[in-house]
Amino acid sequence: MTRQIQFPPDFLWGVATSSYQIEGAAGEDGRGESIWDRFSHTPGKTSNGDTGDVACDHYHRYADDVDLMAALGVRAYRFSVAWPRLYPDGGTRLNRKGLDFYQRLVDRLLDRGVAPAVTLYHWDLPQALQDRGGWTNRDTVARFTHYAETLYHALGDRVGLWMTHNEPWVAGFLGNFRGVHAPGSTDLQSALRAIHHLLLSHGEAVAAYRASGQSGQIGIVLSLHPTYPVNDTQQDRAAAEGSDGYTNRWFLDPVFRASYPTDTVERFQRAGARIDFVEDGDLATMAEPTDFLGVNYYFPRRVSASGSEFGWKVKEHPDPGVPTTAIGWEITPEGLTETLVRLRADYGDMPFYVTENGAPFHDQIDPDGQVRDPARVDFLRRHFVAAQQAIEAGIDLRGYFVWSFLDNFEWAFGYTPRFGIVYVDYPTQRRIPKDSFRFYRDVIAANGLESE
Ligand code: FCB
Repeated sequence: MTRQIQFPPDFLWGVATSSYQIEGAAGEDGRGESIWDRFSHTPGKTSNGDTGDVACDHYHRYADDVDLMAALGVRAYRFSVAWPRLYPDGGTRLNRKGLDFYQRLVDRLLDRGVAPAVTLYHWDLPQALQDRGGWTNRDTVARFTHYAETLYHALGDRVGLWMTHNEPWVAGFLGNFRGVHAPGSTDLQSALRAIHHLLLSHGEAVAAYRASGQSGQIGIVLSLHPTYPVNDTQQDRAAAEGSDGYTNRWFLDPVFRASYPTDTVERFQRAGARIDFVEDGDLATMAEPTDFLGVNYYFPRRVSASGSEFGWKVKEHPDPGVPTTAIGWEITPEGLTETLVRLRADYGDMPFYVTENGAPFHDQIDPDGQVRDPARVDFLRRHFVAAQQAIEAGIDLRGYFVWSFLDNFEWAFGYTPRFGIVYVDYPTQRRIPKDSFRFYRDVIAANGLESE
């Protein structure tokens, strides 16, 4: 039995990318070094030593890329601004040429009927700021607010949707505690300090947006993982609750409740950390009211009790037979519905966007020149249905950004995982829309799809 499911009339269908992952032109027009340039150029940090030096060369090809988005029919494009293009040395000296690129991009988008949705920080901190401690230095908050104000002033009349930070869990813990992302440190105390300042800068940037008098919407983007016990035992349930504090509540609670979760504070303290970086007024600033929450959903975490530092361990490989993507992420569309329903239950009714969802598969160009990606089509179909189920449950879901428009530099994984609905032939930079592109185009045109 199939049935046609529909989305609300003004549902914002979009695609997403980020600056370091697609722009290339790393040394051009005065762009400064970012922590991802430094990290990816450090031997051993990324697969095959891949870097974002050239990436998809979007910096030069943005006009054609936007035309392709228009052909797809998306109503919005979520991209991020590279801070070191605007402030190469992390200070207050504005590099006009860097800003001009985003002016051109926004103009092109509007000309082609695609609404720009801007992320201020998708992990490419100016290296000059890292040299002064990066996010562990409280002064970076003021630098970020200043950078945000520049963008509100320059683009605020044409950009109606703003996102402060992308996934502070990844930037904070993977970059400063696990060491697998830039800047590559492995110290829990530094990570917690860095996250505090990331969240503080989110609140300050929201306040600065209100003060700018612009009338668009602003929010934050979090990576959220439903967290399940591996076995239905009291120990594993407690481990799952603990892990949920680490990935989800450590970010949701400050932003929506002006507090850090007590159980997670205790776990971090038991692991030797001190919560000594919270100053008067910080918690209120971090909870500055936002207009929406951006949800990046990829996969759930399955957790069991263990004697490790925090008392849990994450199951690394799904059971045989469980469907996964090319990099082993479990495919569980209902986790998206569950995440949205949980957010409303725990943090209140508010507008949501799915700001990222997508999957890497082993795509290739067939002899006839086409790229067929049935697994991605199926992945997207099932996640769209899951999103629509959340809407049916009364969740105020306003839009959906597929990750990603283009195959791109997937951080430490380099260029091997292909997440795009458009294939990028890196040696020639030719763009080849995949079957999933046509599938998505049809979904957008119908504002719905057939569900089995
Ligand atoms: C998210 C990131 C995005 C991309 C996708 C696959 O965590 O925000 O840049 O790497 O995962």
